[in-house]
Amino acid sequence: MAKVTVVGAGNVGATCANVLAFNKIADEVVMLDVKEGVAEGKAMDMMQTANTLAFETSIVGVTNDYSKTANSEVVIITSGIPRKPGMTREELIGVNATIVKSVAESCLKFSPNAIIIVISNPMDTMTYLTLKSTGLPKNRIIGMGGTLDSSRFKYYLSQAMNANPSQIEGMVIGGHGDTTMIPLKRMATCAGVAVSEILDAEKLNKVVADTMVGGATLTGLLGTSAWYAPGAAGAYVAESIIRDYKRVIPCCVALEGEYGQNDICIGVPAVIGRNGVEKIIEIKLDAEEKALFAKSAEAVRKTNDVLKEIKAL
Ligand code: LAC
Repeated sequence: MAKVTVVGAGNVGATCANVLAFNKIADEVVMLDVKEGVAEGKAMDMMQTANTLAFETSIVGVTNDYSKTANSEVVIITSGIPRKPGMTREELIGVNATIVKSVAESCLKFSPNAIIIVISNPMDTMTYLTLKSTGLPKNRIIGMGGTLDSSRFKYYLSQAMNANPSQIEGMVIGGHGDTTMIPLKRMATCAGVAVSEILDAEKLNKVVADTMVGGATLTGLLGTSAWYAPGAAGAYVAESIIRDYKRVIPCCVALEGEYGQNDICIGVPAVIGRNGVEKIIEIKLDAEEKALFAKSAEAVRKTNDVLKEIKAL
């Protein structure tokens, strides 16, 4: 019986819960929110699709009652404010740090063995904060950023090549920020063929640029952060844990010497299974990619430093 808690019943949290139920990933989903009635209402609305969509997952909505989240295998944190058009993810740190820290603490009181997936922004720093403030072993804290960014990279690649999205492989590493993410264009493939053989440099560079501002583009269109792809990305990571799929997923994990980095959570490919982060895959980066990764880590570290300034750590 896999039980998953989703904290935050906003757009991202509700989408994530919906995917967890609809794709039969979890047997029980508890959605928790601070706003009276919102989680309850959305859970009831989703449960009214159970018959139509033929799933047996039970979805429960609660207002702030963490006891209902007890014994969750996975906890997904989406709490906090989303960005508005023109805002960077980094600007959310002040408000979201306090929220994420207390949410993680409250969840662990009732689910001491849970693996935590962090979606709240700025995602790399919120993942680092969760790791440091809970003191949990590093395999139990995963930020989902690279999962989402890679799905956007694959989307833009499929559009540029007019290709079947399911035949595209591609990975985004580095931070989950407009200027910190690194779509690895050299390694992306379509049906096993390097995309650089299919797209000219100009088109490929445009795909990379579009991917990097993929979230901002949607925020501009929607007036708030995106939710379908972020919510689905969270559920995708949860599925690999619950079903022990051991998928290689680019996600935000703690590095201890890998990629030449220490004391940071940042996006790299990792094997995700029953024990959370089971292995970090060190792919060979070329000189340009290495330089981009070092620059990205420096930027993430700068945002992490703010945690001390605002006394969140
Ligand atoms: C995005 C937010 C969720 O990239 O970070 O859409």
